[in-house]
Amino acid sequence: MTEAAPQFTPRVFSGIQPSGGLTLGNYLGALKRFADAQDQGMETIYCMVDMHAITVWQDPDALRRQTRELAAGFIASGVDPEKSILYNQSQVGEHAQLGWIFNCVARMGWMQRMTQWKDKAGKNSQNASLGLFAYPALMAADILLYHATHVPVGEDQKQHVELTRDIAIKFNHDYGTEFFPLPEPVIEGAATRVMSLRDGTKKMSKSDPSDMSRINLTDDADAIANKIRKARTDPEALPSETEGLKERAEARNLVNIYAALNDQTVEQVLADVGGKQFSEFKPMLADLAVAKLSPISTEMARLMEAPEEIDSILTRGADRAREIAQPVLKRTLEIVGMVHG
Ligand code: TYM
Repeated sequence: MTEAAPQFTPRVFSGIQPSGGLTLGNYLGALKRFADAQDQGMETIYCMVDMHAITVWQDPDALRRQTRELAAGFIASGVDPEKSILYNQSQVGEHAQLGWIFNCVARMGWMQRMTQWKDKAGKNSQNASLGLFAYPALMAADILLYHATHVPVGEDQKQHVELTRDIAIKFNHDYGTEFFPLPEPVIEGAATRVMSLRDGTKKMSKSDPSDMSRINLTDDADAIANKIRKARTDPEALPSETEGLKERAEARNLVNIYAALNDQTVEQVLADVGGKQFSEFKPMLADLAVAKLSPISTEMARLMEAPEEIDSILTRGADRAREIAQPVLKRTLEIVGMVHG
């Protein structure tokens, strides 16, 4: 029997792993856009996915600190815990319960095709944790537990959101229901894939061994300016049209970063800076980056002085999250045929 298609109200869900420092990539690809969605009046739920983080080894003290620092990063970037639901995943046990059900829906072949699994496990996949392999099913549970319809992420998470849709489709089909929505990845803006400052073909990442490859949200003004000054570029002047950035990965990356930080399109930026040399453009970018990022790092440092306040924000957020999650999980268990009192 097929249930009548319920109307899904628009709801945003996204998550970030507390697995180390936040980068400019996390800020432009995720945090800044999370705050924008919240300020546009969408219902927004944001999660620090600590259970995802332990798919690779995390020192317990470091994990605690990183979770609080990530919470500070969310708040300093404009996510308001009154307007959005902000919490860490492990405080809402329903994620793991729904994750298990989705482990039984997802197919091995689907997981094996995930590029992030292939990249992270590499040649040593026999030694990777089972959690790392199953991770996208837990991510699907994160999203579908809230019947979320929109998932703002950077480009690198698109495949996982598509897998979430496949899991929802298979669940709905197998159980003859339309209980789960098919969430949309929202990958918008000029900086959905911020690249390394040392190599324009590699993603900016907290795991890159070179600190010069990334801007950390905790970097001070001097460090930001220095990293931009030393960023790899080519000897040409900047073009006036986007077409001129096609074969110039490093130049394109810096222009994308400028556009995203300044809430402009790449076309608008190039209309202003076309014809300039990097010797002129880099200081402009450094000034802009310092102006936008310094207040965030200052606010993060301030928030980190009161970790107990952060903890109570997360606990309150988890209580609010559970109110949405519990009925969804309960109905899922009924659909699957689990006996409950
Ligand atoms: P994570 O923690 O690796 O990254 C968090 C967010 O930051 C984005 N991002 C970038 N965007 C642009 N350029 C970059 N260089 C860059 N680096 C990171 C990511 O795309 C992501 O949006 N699996 C997810 C966490 C997750 C999740 C979820 C996300 C778990 N459950 C449910 C959405 C919905 C992850 O590992 O992201």
